[in-house]
Amino acid sequence: MVESNPNEIVIVKSEHSKINSVDFNNLIFGRVFTDHMFVCDFEDGKWQTPKIMPYQPMTIEPSARVFHYGQAVFEGMKAYKDENGSIFLFRPDQNFKRINKSAARLAIPEFPENYFFEGLETLLKMESDWIKPGLGNSLYIRPFVIATEPAISASPAATYRFMIICSPAKAYYNKPVRVLFAEKFSRSADGGVGFAKAAGNYAAQFYPTGLAQKKGFDQIIWTDASTHKYLEEAGTMNIFFRVGDKLITAPTSDRILDGVTRKSVIQLAEDLGIECEVRPVSVLEIKEAAKDGSLKEIFGAGTAAVISAVSAFEHADDVFEIPQLENSYASLFKKTLTHIQHNLSEDKHGWRHEVK
Ligand SMILES: Cc1ncc(COP(=O)(O)O)c(C=O)c1O
Repeated sequence: MVESNPNEIVIVKSEHSKINSVDFNNLIFGRVFTDHMFVCDFEDGKWQTPKIMPYQPMTIEPSARVFHYGQAVFEGMKAYKDENGSIFLFRPDQNFKRINKSAARLAIPEFPENYFFEGLETLLKMESDWIKPGLGNSLYIRPFVIATEPAISASPAATYRFMIICSPAKAYYNKPVRVLFAEKFSRSADGGVGFAKAAGNYAAQFYPTGLAQKKGFDQIIWTDASTHKYLEEAGTMNIFFRVGDKLITAPTSDRILDGVTRKSVIQLAEDLGIECEVRPVSVLEIKEAAKDGSLKEIFGAGTAAVISAVSAFEHADDVFEIPQLENSYASLFKKTLTHIQHNLSEDKHGWRHEVK
């Protein structure tokens, strides 16, 4: 059935929902997709009429530039449902701005704000049954843009496809993670694309992360590419250190993703009266703090995991275990954030965005 709604999104509804075949209690992150997807093509110098259609494979020429030059950017955000069935996004304006910032760096045309919000909200209302209430449940949303032009010369494409796909999710990493501080490999460099959610940034992490996993670590904490002396961020999370009662996190730069969760934690720390220093964090000071016992916590902050506690780190063959505290800042921030996201507490900064 093809419909055109007032905002000119062409809607083709799926005839059969897959939802009854999904075990919502045993979801593996990012494996199951909802019934529909949002698609909008850039052709003849402009974004064409957007469509919502059944989630399905698509045909792209083997010569499409995305396959050869990695001209692709993406976002990661979540929708939540409260006990009354209302749907909320968390600071979606930040994701919208960031995908266009990423796009600009990759020479991809920016996507219009009204298409983004109307497309996303229409899609979420259609997929409402896939968003389960309850803390820890969410619908992970993946907007992305790829260069579709069939041409293998190394230059920006003339055609692109912007899409949104959605995947139901439970909490991402539940267990505290063991991390390795990077000594040799780098994720990003000055003047590069580290601040962008460019697809290639993630591919470049797979090999070193695989080596870390062989040594028994879950993730790498990336350090600055020129000296490897300063701790920057994890693969999909920004990182916070608690020394005594103070938090420390690296400033954002062109090497570090400006995380929505990170900036929310910094604001919540201020609200809760927790001192938070935003400044370069050296490997040396964290090792010293671990030795003298003042390092209380390390945790990652990102949309997928929300807050992920670190239970050990390794650097230059020194391994430090971090005993998990009962009343940790990590659990305090996780609770505070998820309660705001699920409409269970006051939202004094106006971060919740209701999908009506
Ligand atoms: C490299 C990187 N750092 C940090 C984050 C956390 O950002 P956010 O809190 O906006 O999800 C992400 C995930 O988006 C990421 O991919």
